[in-house]
Amino acid sequence: MIKKLPIRWGILACGNIAHQFAAALKDCPDSVLQAVSSRDFERAKVFADEHGAAAVYDSYEAMLADSEVDAVYIATLHPFHLEWIAYCVQAGKHVLCEKPLTMNLREAKQAKKLADENRCLLREAFMYRHHPQTQRVVDLVTSGVIGKVRMIEANFCYNSGEQPESRIQAKSLGGGGILDIGCYTMSFCRLIAGRAQGRLFAEPLELKAVGHLDTQTKTDMWTTAAMRFEGDILAQATCALRMNHENVAVVLGEKGRITVELPWHCPGTIRVELDGQQSAQEIAMPKQRHLFAYEIESFTNELRGRPIAATEVAMRFDDTLGNMKALDWWRQEIGLAYKADRIG
Ligand SMILES: NC(=O)c1ccc[n+]([C@@H]2O[C@H](COP(=O)([O-])OP(=O)(O)OC[C@H]3O[C@@H](n4cnc5c(N)ncnc54)[C@H](OP(=O)(O)O)[C@@H]3O)[C@@H](O)[C@H]2O)c1
Repeated sequence: MIKKLPIRWGILACGNIAHQFAAALKDCPDSVLQAVSSRDFERAKVFADEHGAAAVYDSYEAMLADSEVDAVYIATLHPFHLEWIAYCVQAGKHVLCEKPLTMNLREAKQAKKLADENRCLLREAFMYRHHPQTQRVVDLVTSGVIGKVRMIEANFCYNSGEQPESRIQAKSLGGGGILDIGCYTMSFCRLIAGRAQGRLFAEPLELKAVGHLDTQTKTDMWTTAAMRFEGDILAQATCALRMNHENVAVVLGEKGRITVELPWHCPGTIRVELDGQQSAQEIAMPKQRHLFAYEIESFTNELRGRPIAATEVAMRFDDTLGNMKALDWWRQEIGLAYKADRIG
């Protein structure tokens, strides 16, 4: 637990998403950007100048030796997450690590063990899961406005074109849609299926998936998973890296449906359509803070010994483990086997 504020952050790797995180810190009064690190000093320097970090390091290790850093945001690529979580917690740093936390469930369990042994907080950065829009969707579902939930559909697709060397497509860099964006759609289905039944999240009882693997990279380019949860709630999670789609999430119930536009890059609009009613209720969510500010605040609250309230949507660690397990299952179904623990 940390009592002294602000929480002093170090950013590990200065890529694309690290810029979003640094921008969001400015929206978080309890946090400050203390240090940044990159394998390339020039990149770190430019980043530090842009976002106002006090210290700049040309290696991740050097930043971890800085006693002025309380917590580290890991923004390197997912195949390297476990290794850097290990170094961070062994250096006594609390960690907020980009999604997916690791490459599979086995690694995620290892990461948690290391964090616990070193008495460090470890959380997966899942920005949409902390946003008031997601909370509103969950509150609508649990209010019973659409009755019992029957089905859930979640899509996250974009067309990145052919770029086999890129981090999103190359196998050695953790490429493939399931780990990049399927993790969002899976987490949404598990969240809603759970909340619809009075639990924080739920695990699929059955999962069947089909997918297309690129012939060159052997990573998944478009795929869909169909699932059955307790209570006969069915769900479909879809993701694609080489195809555009309407990126929406829909919860269908016995009395109507809830459609979330921009479910991942909140805020968007939530539409509630009830059977037999001509007009829909449109709930436009206002943009109040940077999207990433909510996950940072949730993390700093936990660091200060304030646990997440039961009704609150936020990424708890058990939820991360459940999501990793379901992603392992999905990947295994389409021929991307990992040595996962027993599935099902
Ligand atoms: N939450 C979100 O909305 C969101 C969105 C996109 C990505 N992500 C996640 O964030 C992580 C980073 O994604 P990104 O889009 O920021 O990627 P990126 O722009 O390619 O940046 C990744 C950084 O990783 C570091 N790195 C270390 N070893 C590397 C290697 N062998 N090859 C390439 N880079 C290496 C580099 O930092 P230095 O050179 O500075 O050391 C690089 O800039 C991924 O795990 C991804 O899933 C999250």
